[in-house]
Amino acid sequence: MQLATSIEELRAWRRGAPPTLGFVPTMGALHEGHLDLARFARSQNAAVVASVFVNPLQFGEGEDLARYPRDLAGDREKLAATGVDLLFAPEAQEIYPHGFSTTIDVGSVGEGYEGALRPGHFRGVATVVGKLLHLVAPHRLYVGQKDAQQSAVLRKLVRDLAYDCTVTIVPTVRETDGLAMSSRNIYLDERERHAAPSLHRMLRRFLELVKTGEPLEIARTKASTVLEAPGALDYLACVDAESFEPLQALRSNAFVIAAARFGRTRLLDNLWFPQ
Ligand code: PAF
Repeated sequence: MQLATSIEELRAWRRGAPPTLGFVPTMGALHEGHLDLARFARSQNAAVVASVFVNPLQFGEGEDLARYPRDLAGDREKLAATGVDLLFAPEAQEIYPHGFSTTIDVGSVGEGYEGALRPGHFRGVATVVGKLLHLVAPHRLYVGQKDAQQSAVLRKLVRDLAYDCTVTIVPTVRETDGLAMSSRNIYLDERERHAAPSLHRMLRRFLELVKTGEPLEIARTKASTVLEAPGALDYLACVDAESFEPLQALRSNAFVIAAARFGRTRLLDNLWFPQ
């Protein structure tokens, strides 16, 4: 696996023009969920690029940018083992040179839920992924379902700006107790880690209830009792999978989504309801 840390090196590699190119953007601290994306991309494309870039633009004030886990040496080894061809791992000034001011805002799909709780977050995500897509020019982009709103934001970005690539959403990889894999899980202490899988159980209960026609508010009240202390609920909702508009009743192509705080760590999870 080749390593590129500059745009120039990435462009030089890209001039080799593989007939199909898959792209897996990450912020590093890779776990099985990321590696699953890389392996899936590997199975569908002649070549695969992964990026490791902790994007300062998507962190708000007081968020965990400084303490976000970083392990480039470990990430390199893991990505090489999945068959990734090129790792793009730039420094912040390569992506955001002095005076950088152009941003991408995808509008309402990024305004509720995570967008409301983390103002500017999705502008940061859309801006960096927009720039990476422009540089890597992949045929297929791979993102995880765990960050469902992010995947809706990125689908909108690709559609609106007519990037010549498809977006593949890869199902969430879970620990054996149901906890969705996330780079932030390492922040959890023993008590928080023990309670964290209840987020997934709460979502399953919520989906079961709304499927049987239980009114949403009642389903939310009943299901939220499944969340174990010290979990503190931020939201539990049913949304349209494309627009992320809240739904008043379950219908096809919806997500049930939830976020909760376990100490200083916020965890997200969701279930997709296809029909
Ligand atoms: O999901 C992530 O790791 C990040 O939000 C992404 C898509 C790599 C953009 O920085």
